Amino acid sequence: AAPGCVIKCSVFSSESSSFSTSQSASLREIPGSYGLPVFGPLKDRLDFFWFQGENQFYKARMDKYESTVFRVNFPPFPPGFPYSRGVALLDQKSYGVLYDTSKVQKEDMFTGSFAPSKDFTGGYRMLAALDPSHEKHTILKSMLFELLKVNRTRTIFEFSKAFAETFDAVERQISQGKQVDFYSSTQKFVLDFLIRTIVHRDPAKPGHASLANDGPSLFQTWIGVQYGGIAQSGLPHIVEEFALHNFPLPFFLVKGMYGRIYKFFRTYATEAIAVASSKFGLDREEATHNLIFILGVNAWLGLIRLFPAIIYHVANGGSELQGRLRAEVRSSASSTRAGLTAEAIASMPLIRSTVLEVLRLSAPAKYQYARAKTDLIIESHDAAYMIKKGELLGGCLHFASRDPAVFDDPETFVADRFMGEKGKKLLPNLLWSNGYNHQPATAVNKQCGGKDLVEHISCLFLAELFTRYDSFQIAEPASIYSYPPRIKFTSMQKKGRFIA
Ligand code: HEM
Repeated sequence: AAPGCVIKCSVFSSESSSFSTSQSASLREIPGSYGLPVFGPLKDRLDFFWFQGENQFYKARMDKYESTVFRVNFPPFPPGFPYSRGVALLDQKSYGVLYDTSKVQKEDMFTGSFAPSKDFTGGYRMLAALDPSHEKHTILKSMLFELLKVNRTRTIFEFSKAFAETFDAVERQISQGKQVDFYSSTQKFVLDFLIRTIVHRDPAKPGHASLANDGPSLFQTWIGVQYGGIAQSGLPHIVEEFALHNFPLPFFLVKGMYGRIYKFFRTYATEAIAVASSKFGLDREEATHNLIFILGVNAWLGLIRLFPAIIYHVANGGSELQGRLRAEVRSSASSTRAGLTAEAIASMPLIRSTVLEVLRLSAPAKYQYARAKTDLIIESHDAAYMIKKGELLGGCLHFASRDPAVFDDPETFVADRFMGEKGKKLLPNLLWSNGYNHQPATAVNKQCGGKDLVEHISCLFLAELFTRYDSFQIAEPASIYSYPPRIKFTSMQKKGRFIA
């Protein structure tokens, strides 16, 4: 159809959409181009990693084409990586097609067209890379739900323990006059919490398969080599460009490191693996590699980005926001008389709304990809577009979560945004978990299997923080968009005592 012709579309048919499903929209040709082979992706690669940077890369094209839907080369870039020619979706209305698995397929759709070699994961395709129509997807995700359920009572205890250890160390360093880099503290904090909760073993506890104090660096390197093509490593730019972004790195570079991680899980995760095997009939090898990926990539990578973002936004909220959070935490915890129980956490609406607002503005997993199963039409707020079977679709949450058609003052951090009836109505528009926030993750959708856990422990994180401290400050300039994030504590006021 010619651009501009008006059609009756039945698009974006998800029941959960807060947008109408059958509207008249003008069918527009998708703007943008992939450029010449090799040269087009090369230009996009230079723009993405060097000249414009990640967010400006999409923003510049959105402004140029005056469209939130356009053609683009996604990273990682050829010739070393496969072509990822696709259609960017940057508004909330078009974004929803990524969740409609009757229209799109999700196999190996973690990073554009590129899927790392299965050598990195014991020869198995991981849960996150399986289409939900796959029986194995249902089994593996059910296994995760079961593990989270049987370990529910340990969660608050292990989280609070790891929190206390982390902030004891932060305080010690601050009192020695140091600025404390919270990103590196978080890496150990989150790994300790996850592994103690699910594996029931301290990663550093001595033993023949101990990870000693190397846990965070082993996971970081295994992930960095696997996803080198899109990695921001903190290495000098030129080194990163040649060493990581040129072509996929082989598994043998991290074989020894992954071997240590594998040995730790195979030796100590006996209860979790027994559940996987006896209750779900999973092969022990496959269960072990999946458990490593779930805890090491899905969970660890997400959480180590989220906690620094929480600190960043709450620090920027200054004494006014910190005072309100502190008052809510202390009054809820004292009213239940049992401290920070799940019940107390559930009665902290400002804490919860603050966490959701961080997840809106700083979603740790920014991209979702899918491939059209059939020819289909997708709709943005102002136009409709024809997508051909097999085309790659890529959504960027940085923009969909700031969609001005949905959120008032979308660039501003508003801690109360998700409170009350008005806030509740916005939940379907909160997309951090690869699904609509008011809907649950299930064994047959692709929504984050740790969704409830993430929200719960993030509330717990803030509650612990304001139980222990009256307020805190971080060094300027702070950033969560750089790698590594620059979040450094400079001082903390501990219930009437100043630490600086
Ligand atoms: C999938 C985000 C923490 C387990 C996903 C996806 C996103 C996401 C966006 C979809 C990926 C895709 O297909 O494009 C996050 C964020 C987290 C987090 C931002 C932390 C801040 C966790 C935790 C767990 C977990 C703590 C488990 C304990 C999973 C699993 C999948 C997944 C198993 C694959 C689901 C499936 O394929 O059906 N997560 N996640 N995640 N996440 Fe999370």
